[in-house]
Amino acid sequence: MTPLQKGKSPFYPGQPVPVELFVGRTAQLDRMLRRGVEQVAAGKPVAMFIQGEYGIGKSSIAGFLQYLAAKDHNLHSIYAPLGGVESINDVAARVLEATIRSGAFDPSRNERIRNWLSKYIGEQSLFGVTIHAEALRRDAPSIAAGMLPFLAEVYARLKDTGTRGVFLALDEINGIAGDPHFAHLIKGVVDTNALSNRPLPLLLLLCGVEERRREMIAQHQPVDRIFDVIDIAAMTESEMREFFTKAYASVQMTVDDEAMSLLCKYSAGFPKIMHLVGDAAFWIDRDGRVDRDDALQAVLTAADEVGKKYVDQQVYKALRSQDYHSILAKIARMGPDAMTFTKAEVAKGLTESEKKKFNNFLQKMKTLKVLRSGDTQGEYVFNMRMVRLYIWLQSLSSKTGA
Ligand SMILES: Nc1ncnc2c1ncn2[C@@H]1O[C@H](COP(=O)(O)OP(=O)(O)OP(=O)(O)O)[C@@H](O)[C@H]1O
Ligand SMILES: [Mg+2]
Repeated sequence: MTPLQKGKSPFYPGQPVPVELFVGRTAQLDRMLRRGVEQVAAGKPVAMFIQGEYGIGKSSIAGFLQYLAAKDHNLHSIYAPLGGVESINDVAARVLEATIRSGAFDPSRNERIRNWLSKYIGEQSLFGVTIHAEALRRDAPSIAAGMLPFLAEVYARLKDTGTRGVFLALDEINGIAGDPHFAHLIKGVVDTNALSNRPLPLLLLLCGVEERRREMIAQHQPVDRIFDVIDIAAMTESEMREFFTKAYASVQMTVDDEAMSLLCKYSAGFPKIMHLVGDAAFWIDRDGRVDRDDALQAVLTAADEVGKKYVDQQVYKALRSQDYHSILAKIARMGPDAMTFTKAEVAKGLTESEKKKFNNFLQKMKTLKVLRSGDTQGEYVFNMRMVRLYIWLQSLSSKTGA
C-alpha cells in the first residue's frame, strides 16, 4: 500500500474550531440568537454568560455566534480573550486591542475602525497589524473608566455602514473573575447602559467555568441578575458522529462504522478529546479510510497525550503519598472500561494503611475532577474515558504500585 500524501489536518486540538467544522449546539445557538443577537439588533442591550467546564467548547461557540451575528445580523463582533490579565487596566487594553483587530468578517468596517484607532497601530505587514503597546497601556485607564462610552463610539463610527449593534465577547475570564473591580466594571456597564435614555445596542458575552461566575457574584452580588446563563455540556453521540464525518470528508477520508463507534466512545462527548483522537487517526491512517485498527491505535495515542499533559501533571503530581498511588493502581487494574466502582469493592483489596487513606484519596480525586460521585451511595464514576484508559495503561507498566 502506498502511503497517502497527507494534507492539512482538519483537527484543531487546543484551538477554537473554525466555522466550517463547527458542529451541533443548536439549542444553545438558537437561544443566543433569539434572546441575544436579535434583541440587540432590534435595539435592546443583553448580557449573557456561557458557562461550561474546561475544554467543553465555550470559545468555539462564542466564536461561531460572533460570526453569525456579524454575517447575518449586522452586529459588530469584538473578541477579547482575557487570559493572563491581572487588572482592570489590562482588561481595557485587551478590549482596545481586540477592537483594533475587529471587523475581520467585514473589511470596510475594519478599515474604519483602524483609521479611527490608527495611533495605536504600528506597521502594517502581511501578517496583520502590529500594535503600539505603550500607547495602548497609556490610554487603557481612561478606557477602563469609560468602557461604555468607548463602545458607544465604536457604534457611532460604524452606524452608517448598517451596523446595528456591538457584540463584545470577553473570553477566558478566569484570572480576573475574582477581582471585585471586574465585577463592578461589568455591572456598571450593564446598568449605566440600561438607564441611559438611548441605550447602546450591546451584546455583552462572558465565557468561563461556572465557578468563575459564582466568584464574580461573590464579589458583587447584583451580578447574579444581569446574565442570561447558557450552559454548554458534553456533546451527544450524533453531534460527535457529525463532527468526525464532516472533518474527514473535508480531506476526502471516510470512517468505518466500528471505527466511528470507537472514536465516539472514547471522546465521550468532550470536544477537546474528539480533536485529539481524530487528529491521531488522521495521521495513523494510510489509505484514506479510518478502520478499526486505525481508531484503536488513535485512541491509545490520544490517551498517552492526555495522560502526559493532564494526568501526569495534575493527578500523579498531586498524589504525594505512595499509598495514594497504589490505591489508584488497584482501581486502575479493574480494566480500561470499568468507568464506575464502589467504595466497598475497592476497599476489600486494600492494605490497612491504604484503607486509612482511602477517604482522603477519593476526596482528592474528586477535587482533581478525575472522579465524581455516582447515583448510588458509595459509587464513584470516572469523568473521562481517556483519563481512565491512561491510568489503566500506567498500571500495566506498574510504575505506580504494589
Ligand atoms: N462545536 C464544536 N464543533 C467542533 N469542535 C469543537 C466544537 N466546540 C469545541 N470544539 C473543539 O474542542 C476543543 C475545545 O474547544 P474550546 O477551546 O472552544 O473550549 P473551551 O470551553 O473554550 O476551553 P477552555 O476552557 O480551555 O477555554 C477545541 O479543540 C475545539 O476546536
Ligand atoms: Mg476557551
